[in-house]
Amino acid sequence: ASAFKSSLAIAVTAASLGMAAGANAATWKMALGDAAGGTQYELGKTFASLVEEKSGGDIKVDLFPNGQLGSEQDTVNNASMGLVDLSVVAINNLTPFSPTVGVLTLPYVIHGPDDAKALTQGKIGDELRENTLRDSGIRILGWAYSGCRRLTNSKQAVASPEDLEGMVIRVPKNEIMISSYQSWGVNPNPLAWSETFTALQQGVVDGQDNPYITIDAMKFYEVQNHVTDSCYVFSMEPLIMGEGTFQSLSEENQQLVLAAGEEATSHSYDYLLATEDSIKKSLVEEHGMTITQPANDEQEWIAKASSIWPDFYDSIGGRDKLVEVLETLGRDPS
Ligand code: MLT
Repeated sequence: ASAFKSSLAIAVTAASLGMAAGANAATWKMALGDAAGGTQYELGKTFASLVEEKSGGDIKVDLFPNGQLGSEQDTVNNASMGLVDLSVVAINNLTPFSPTVGVLTLPYVIHGPDDAKALTQGKIGDELRENTLRDSGIRILGWAYSGCRRLTNSKQAVASPEDLEGMVIRVPKNEIMISSYQSWGVNPNPLAWSETFTALQQGVVDGQDNPYITIDAMKFYEVQNHVTDSCYVFSMEPLIMGEGTFQSLSEENQQLVLAAGEEATSHSYDYLLATEDSIKKSLVEEHGMTITQPANDEQEWIAKASSIWPDFYDSIGGRDKLVEVLETLGRDPS
């Protein structure tokens, strides 16, 4: 934390420079790990047009998709140091910087969009935002909701964990997700998101997991044939700004970005509900992917992966935190 504070002291943020240079005018850069067309882009585009509109055209936001400004984890670092104004990253790529948000990537805790909304908005969401600010100097302005992460591979239909035998699966550099795959008997390959398409294309890895909308936006159907309709983690993608950058804004502009973030979040939820089914269908009908249902209602996957929960109680803030989360979702935590 002290290293972060000193970096804040010396950081001249891109956003503050932009504001100073042209009186009220500024152009901010937003990094996106995904390609244009996915939920990150939709959130970013909506936020950008709201900010432009609310500032009367003074503030523009340029989007840089496809990891052009670095891997998602690099852009978290860069945002906290004021080297990039804004970034949208998957929650799993924020967890290494702010461990308590790991509760959102514990396998089989979040079952769908309503659970995701309940945990990112309200008391738990407020607390996770405060923790992230404290741990990494990152302010969460909004959320993209991207859907359940579905397992894809290039080899064969996968219904049970045993079907993964002999496959190399790419996972994000996230301890909880690595451990989930280990519980299924797989030794996963942790790779940055920006390296994933090429690794799939070159056969360095056989599979990966991400939501339908992301599979489509990233054109993974060009290098993957099979999808398992599983839901071990729900992908949520915070829109982040470094706290140094946020504090460099006028009070009026701070309120403006907070309001734009909230509105863009609400749009993202509606966008997911409106598009996920048709995108899933097009992956089969237009792009030739096959979709396999997990065997036995996913019970084997669930039992194995939930056995890792206790390994992460310390990092998420104790078992009580998970109990609170489950109660918030209306589930029996016993
Ligand atoms: C990842 O798999 O690293 C991320 O979930 C990708 C993304 O941001 O869509």
